[in-house]
Amino acid sequence: MAIVGIDTVVYGSPDLKTARKFFGDWGLKKVADTRAGIIFETGIGSRIVVRPEAAKTLRPRLEGGSNFREVIFGVVNASALKAIGEDLARDRDVSVDTDGTLHAIDDSGINVGFRVWKHRRETPSAGTAWNGPGSRTRIDKVSPVYKNAQPFKMGHIVFFVSDTRVAEAFYRKRLGFRLSDRYVGGAGVFLRWTEKSEHHNLFFVKSRTGKTDIHHIAFEVSDIHEVFGGGLEFSKRGWATDVGPGRHPVSSAYFWYFRNPLGGAVEYFCDADYVTDAWKPNNYRTNRFSEWHLVDGIRQRDDGKVRPSLPAAKGAAEPGRVGQVPFKTARASASS
Ligand SMILES: [Fe+2]
Repeated sequence: MAIVGIDTVVYGSPDLKTARKFFGDWGLKKVADTRAGIIFETGIGSRIVVRPEAAKTLRPRLEGGSNFREVIFGVVNASALKAIGEDLARDRDVSVDTDGTLHAIDDSGINVGFRVWKHRRETPSAGTAWNGPGSRTRIDKVSPVYKNAQPFKMGHIVFFVSDTRVAEAFYRKRLGFRLSDRYVGGAGVFLRWTEKSEHHNLFFVKSRTGKTDIHHIAFEVSDIHEVFGGGLEFSKRGWATDVGPGRHPVSSAYFWYFRNPLGGAVEYFCDADYVTDAWKPNNYRTNRFSEWHLVDGIRQRDDGKVRPSLPAAKGAAEPGRVGQVPFKTARASASS
């Protein structure tokens, strides 16, 4: 086990004002706001960093041209970080910041970084009490109602890539990720960073355009009540639903996706499957994105008009919505 979390996601924005409002409304805590950029934190302290587009420290845009610039993974300790750096340096450039953060480019062209994880990974919790036949655990109490969400952590990040097999090989062979599930024909692959983890921490989707870019970042919240409460409040503040609320049959999670003006989408999710080495990967032959979902399921304050994305590079913008996983091949082997 080397990688234990998504430490930081970095954007370069042509419009810090919109980015500030977007991630603030999303429920992240703003911990810095200077000319160098804005830093937001999740409940465990992992970060979204938005820098001015002209900042020299920004990594280049990905092929797709969105405003995403880098994902930095948290590594369990300094020796594991050193081992990653030495391994990647065998066949690519690896730069090191003064704080020890490594930067490289993965085999799909994604800017990826690594640093020692300094955040909590879980907080002990009694969880949400549910009542059902034969199981009455919430006695003399009402269920929680959330006025807004406060995302606990970034649970997974998803990218469009030209070849999901290339992405899978890199993260499994070089960084120790495990296979959780696949869609046939290389349409998608779900990976987790260690043997025991949420169903997926990385998901790669085959790009229709062949260009690599961000697809979405998923923020874990406590329960379905927080998905609803957060999604309703975020909608009231004028941000447009992409898909949701709904439920994924793959991973079992409840979700609500919103369009991110910086590119791709952001997702509130809860109650994802937690799997171990006993899990047998599936090779799904049909798009199992959703058991059910609402699309633009509630009236938007702006009458459903979609807010335009912030300017991206020429030729950017992956067509389609989050739930549309392309299927070009009908058959594929189920080997893992
Ligand atoms: Fe997701």
